This record gives sequence, structure tokens and C-alpha cells, in this order.
Amino acid sequence: MQSRYFDVYEGWQKDPEGFWRSASAAIDWFKEPEKIFDGDQGVYGRWFTGGETNTCHNCLDRHVAAGRGGQRAFIHDSAMTGRQKSFTYAEVLEEVKAIAAVMRDLGIEKGDRVVIYMPMVPEAIFSMLACARLGAVHSVVFGGFAAQELAARLNDSEAKLVIGASCGLEPGRTVAYKPLLDQAIELARVKPEHCLILQREQLQAELRPERGELDFSEVVEKARGRDVPCVPVKATDPLYILYTSGTTGQPKGVVRDNGGHMVALHWSMENIFGVKPGEVFWTASDIGWVVGHSYIVYGPLLAGNTSVIFEGKPVGTPDAGTFWRVVSDHDVKVLFTAPTAFRAIRRDDPEGELVEKYDLTGMRALFLAGERADSETLKWAEQKLKVPVIDHWWQTETGWPVAANTVGLGLMPVKHGSPTRPMPGYSLDVLDDAGHPVPRGTLGNIVIKLPLPPGCLVSFWNADQRFREACLDEFPGYYKTADAGVMDEDGYIFVMARTDDIINCAGHRLSTGAMEEVCAKHPDVAECAVIGVHDATKGQIPCGFMVLKNHVSREITDIAREVAELVRNEIGPVAAFKTVMVVHKLPKTRSGKILRGTMQKIADDMPWKMPATIEDAAVLDEITAILKANGYAREGSGLKQSA
Ligand code: COA
Ligand code: AMP
Repeated sequence: MQSRYFDVYEGWQKDPEGFWRSASAAIDWFKEPEKIFDGDQGVYGRWFTGGETNTCHNCLDRHVAAGRGGQRAFIHDSAMTGRQKSFTYAEVLEEVKAIAAVMRDLGIEKGDRVVIYMPMVPEAIFSMLACARLGAVHSVVFGGFAAQELAARLNDSEAKLVIGASCGLEPGRTVAYKPLLDQAIELARVKPEHCLILQREQLQAELRPERGELDFSEVVEKARGRDVPCVPVKATDPLYILYTSGTTGQPKGVVRDNGGHMVALHWSMENIFGVKPGEVFWTASDIGWVVGHSYIVYGPLLAGNTSVIFEGKPVGTPDAGTFWRVVSDHDVKVLFTAPTAFRAIRRDDPEGELVEKYDLTGMRALFLAGERADSETLKWAEQKLKVPVIDHWWQTETGWPVAANTVGLGLMPVKHGSPTRPMPGYSLDVLDDAGHPVPRGTLGNIVIKLPLPPGCLVSFWNADQRFREACLDEFPGYYKTADAGVMDEDGYIFVMARTDDIINCAGHRLSTGAMEEVCAKHPDVAECAVIGVHDATKGQIPCGFMVLKNHVSREITDIAREVAELVRNEIGPVAAFKTVMVVHKLPKTRSGKILRGTMQKIADDMPWKMPATIEDAAVLDEITAILKANGYAREGSGLKQSA
């Protein structure tokens, strides 16, 4: 039977407002929207204007009121501590009210910003929901980022409050978060008035009450039982800011609204992911990323699912069977993770022997996103799990899938390498650099016709102009995804590569430009280039090339180590910046542009062309030689030059 997708997509095309009006009926509104879409508001228009609602109400209160209070909202499963704990919707509501009461006592009001810097503990999610309850705007910062990155987010968001934890747990080490937070506040121009710190038993932090630092559990305990009603917010008010890598070191604050976000996520849960209220949905990611925001927290709660909060890794905690243990322990119906997690599992358990050990019969589908899913990984997952494996494509900016195969509406035929077709709300084109549509099957810039659907970013925080310049100006009438790809004859999209400096390392989005800015701070570095090179597990890893200043006579290995440490300390361990090569010159065009693309192709053994405008072709010989010495360019890409 043909998937219902085609009818639904066509229905949206014929009447976009009617489509979203009917989807919005699934949400409780304190005041119904006056318009479904208002093209005169915002940068490219706004959704559900005039409407009033509250995201926390829709995630919690209304389920409790409807009699679902006893159903589990979350299962926290920590492979790091070996503990599991469930929370019903009613229990989460009580916790959230208590946190909201504390925040209100600290002066947090609608519109105030709150930074959350925590590991994968339930309190992090309860804090997000408490912000939503008060109409405060949360900004979650991933724990693997360093103090400098946290400071940049404190400054840009002008947060009044930080909710943090004493530590995170990584395999083999306890990461002290509090010293990183202290350092970030020291560096930040805008200091928060208070910090609420969750003390974890693995490592306690020293709290300084004179600096507004409070023990999270202590104050929340005292606030238990207090009733804090949901503050009505406009559909167009911001729910959160999520900073993501842009083309410079300055992260972009993606702003998500309340109304459109709820409508889109709710629609996606049943129609794309195919889960019903009461079923267990597990997104193995981190709340520091958009995937965690949308599909650990808001999507599953809006749809009345039970969401798994997992603290651990796909391998090594304790082994490559952890995911299957979690699926079978909690009867997970749908699992969502990044392809890199599967590559790591397959590397450690190539025959899938650990898969066999667990009962996975309840699982209906696996969703993969965050980076390109290679067909070997897809095939392995299909064979071992015996469920549909769905590659779907989206970004921090869009907040929910741009292209997917729809489990809920019925599956379309799978083409490996393609996240299938655009979802309702998204009209995709592929354009050449001059903005002309390219023929089907030809590589070009993937763009989304404006307006973006509900749930997508409305702008960058306090930076409408930057949003226009980065995303809207280059292709008038379109949002530029900064992904290059192909649409085939059947309308399937193939996402091939980024058109900017972003790399995807272990499913984490990183800017090589930001890394270059840090490398350039080393006193011995004259200039540098950072590129993403292929890695069998992580997809891509950064690789830095440094040209040293004249007369530097120190040991090269010392300088390389220091540069790597600098990036680890300023961006964070998550950058996985470990490969540093010192060269005499960087390959450039005659106009001085560094030929990063050519370097990457050489490193990855891909065919490349000698750029006609190269300043000094011999420089590429040194690059090739040093790459080979470091285990790249193994097949001698110099021999593979394309005509
Ligand atoms: N707090 C502090 N440090 C963190 C951290 C956190 N929350 N998350 C990661 N780090 C550190 C790690 O400890 C590691 O440090 P190290 O250099 O000292 O070893 C570094 O950052 C890189 O971590 P990671 O990218 O997780 O690599 P890994 O080698 O530890 O694990 C994978 C590799 C593939 C198993 C892991 O990256 C993974 O599970 N990826 C899935 C990604 C994902 O869910 N992405 C979200 C989009 S869907
Ligand atoms: P992030 O904002 O961290 O979610 O990263 C978004 C980027 O990851 C996209 O712009 C793509 O480059 C890449 N990406 C995400 N999902 C996919 C996918 N299914 N296939 C190919 N690339 C993807």
C-alpha cells in the first residue's frame, strides 16, 4: 500500500495554513491564534500570531489533568552509575513546580534568560520545563564545551541565572563542571546573579553563597508542594535559545518560539516517528544538542510518551550491548541516535553478537540523524535489528526533520544515502551558486522556500541582521541550509556535504573556523588551517595545519601539543582536536584564499583537481607528504588527480 505521505504532503501544498490550523488543534491554547501565519511579522513572518499558550502546560499539566498523571514521563538510565529511576507525569510536574518556585524567588520572570550547564540528569530537563513554565528562556550549554564557550553564551544571552551541576561522568573520569562554570563567569562580561548547583555524589563542588551560589537540591526541597501556575506566553515568544556553530568563532543563538514549536513537534511524533501516547521513545543524544531538546524533552512529552534519559555512551559503558540492554529493559518502541553511535557499536561488535543477547522484539524503528548515514552502517543496522532504519535530515535551525521517511504515515521505499523526501511545511529546491535551479540529479545548494514551517528558528538571538545575512540573503526567497546535495527524479533528497566550514565530528557540529581562531592565538603560530578529515567512527575529525613564525626554534612536538591543548581548553574536549601538523606553507590561491577543500580531498583520498589559481603548486607536495606520514592520503591522492 502506498504511504499516506503523498496525500498529506499534497494536502499541505494546496493549503498550508489549513494544514497547520488542523495540526494546532492538538495543542492547548489559552487564547486561540488570530492568524495561522502572519507574513508581516518577524524576519520572514510568524506562526500562530495572537495565540497564547504555555509549553510546560502542554508537556505536563494537561496530561495530568487528562488522567495520565500516573504514566511514566521519563526513565533515567545511567550506564555510568548503573542506576535507573522513573518519574511519572505527576511527579515531574511537582518537581518542575518546585524548581519554578525557586526560580521565581530568585527574581526570574517571563523573558529572562537562564543558562543550563548540566550532564544528562533528570534535573536538567526539569529545569528546562521550569523555565518554560515561567515563560523564561532557557539556553542549554553542552557539558563538553569549555569555559570560554560557556562565557560567550552567558554574554550573548545575558543570563540572570545559571543552573549547573558539580560534575559530569565520562568513561574513566569525572568531569568537574563547577570550576569550568567559575572560570566562565570570571571571563564573562555579563555575570549571572545566581547559580543553582546540583551536587552529585561523585564530586561535590564548593559553593560560595556570597556570590549567589545555592545548593539546587536544598532549595528545591524547601519549595516542594508550592503551586506555581503556568505563565501564559505568546505563541511567538521565545521558548529557548540554542547556540550552534556558525562560520565564525561567535556562536549563533538559534531562537525557537513556543506555539509553532509545539505544533510541529507534536505533528512529527505520530506522523514521522510513528509513536502513540504511552509508548517509550528513546533518543540517545544529549540535551545540549537540538536533537535532545526536540526528541528527549519536548516532542515525547507533548505527545504523551515516556522518554528515556540516558547517561552513557554506545560503547564502553560497559560494552557495545548497552543500547540493546536499554531497549529491552524499558521496552523502547523507537530509538533515535546518530550514525556515529552505530559505527562505534559495529566496530566493537561486528557480528552483532551482543544484539542477539537481548529481546528487541518491541522495537519498531531506528531513526538516524546528525550526519550523513553511510550505507554500510545502514545495512548493518537493518540486518542486525530487523526493523526499518530511517535516515532523516535536519539541523539545529530547523528544530525538526526537513526530510524523512514517515513511519507514522506509512513507509516509502528506502534509498540508502537519502533521507527520503521533504516533510509537509518544507518545499526544497537545489540551486547553483547563482541561484538558478539545477536539473534533477545535479549537485547544488539545498534551500528551503520561505516561509519556514512552524518549529523552525525565528531568528538569531538579538541578531536579525546576522540571521538575514547568514541564512536568507544569498538566495532571495529561500532559507539556505548550507548543505549541498542532489534531488533525484523521484524527489528524494541526498545530503552530501556542508557548503561552509562546519564539520560533523561524532555527531557533534563544530566550526573549523572557530578552531582556527583559537590556534592562531598560539604565540608561535603565524597562520593555520583546520579541515575535517574522514574518520571511520566519528565521521570526521578536525586536523590542523600550522605555519610557525620565523625564527621559532622550539620543538615542533611541543608546539603541536600546546595548540591541541589550547583548542581543548577554549572550545572543549568535544572538539576532538588532536591532530596538528606543522608545515612551511599553506596552499593558497593567488588572491590568498587557503585551499582547504583541496587539502581535505587529498587527505581523504578523493579525486581532486589542481586549482588553476594556485599560487605555488609545490606546496601541495609537502601537504601530501605530511598527511601520508600521519596515516592519511594513503593511496597517494596526487596520482588520483581528476582531469
Ligand atoms: N561533558 C564533558 N566532556 C565530554 C562530554 C560532556 N558531556 N561529552 C563528551 N565529552 C568529552 C569526552 O570525554 C571526550 O574527551 P577525551 O578527549 O578526554 O576522551 C571528548 O569530549 C570527545 O567525546 P565524544 O565525541 O563523545 O567522543 P568519544 O570518543 O568519547 O565517543 C562516540 C565517541 C561515537 C561513542 C560518541 O561520540 C557518541 O556516542 N556519539 C553520539 C553523538 C550524539 O549523540 N550526537 C547527538 C546528535 S544526534
Ligand atoms: P546540527 O545542527 O548539529 O543538527 O547539524 C546539522 C547538520 O548535520 C546538517 O546541516 C547536515 O550537514 C548534517 N546532517 C544532519 N542530519 C543529516 C543526515 N541525515 N544526512 C546528512 N547530513 C546530516
